Amino acid sequence: MLQQSKNSDDFTFDTAEEMQQFGSKLAKLLSAGDVVFLIGDLGSGKTTFAKGIISELCGSENQVTSPTFNLVHVWDAEKFEVWHADLYRLDNPAQVIGLGLEDAFDHALCLIEWPDRMGEMAPDLRLDICFSHHGQGRKVVLRAMGKEWEQRINVL
Ligand SMILES: Nc1ncnc2c1ncn2[C@@H]1O[C@H](COP(=O)(O)OP(=O)(O)O)[C@@H](O)[C@H]1O
Ligand SMILES: [Mg+2]
Repeated sequence: MLQQSKNSDDFTFDTAEEMQQFGSKLAKLLSAGDVVFLIGDLGSGKTTFAKGIISELCGSENQVTSPTFNLVHVWDAEKFEVWHADLYRLDNPAQVIGLGLEDAFDHALCLIEWPDRMGEMAPDLRLDICFSHHGQGRKVVLRAMGKEWEQRINVL
């Protein structure tokens, strides 16, 4: 069940299904040119959450898996592309340009796991979502980077 603790941007989920549903809910607030950082350790639920977003925007028939080996998967939403990146294996931040990710920041919705690998290539305006283990479940904390994001996530 969706629980809202002291901080309104702080949620806990007992199952992967609930987390995916929260991703679907957030998806309705997202659009082209948005950058969402998915931050957290291995197994903390980043891909599960991305799956909820991608299923909502690009169709639930899509089998969303972690783009660990090719770094980026590009999905088609109705009006824009959704770029799902896992930068765990990024060799150096400049590679972000070669991947086309820097351009995608402007025209696509970008969901990025292991964004710390980008270093200074990281855009300033973005939504950070932090994942951590919480008993058998997971905790999710939303952190708006920039005023505009603050207002947009207010409705959650
Ligand atoms: N809220 C949750 N509660 C329990 N298990 C979860 C939750 N979210 C995800 N999981 C499970 O945790 C495992 C790792 O999730 P995944 O999304 O691949 O993590 P990450 O991408 O951060 O490495 C998966 O087996 C997934 O089903
Ligand atoms: Mg992952």
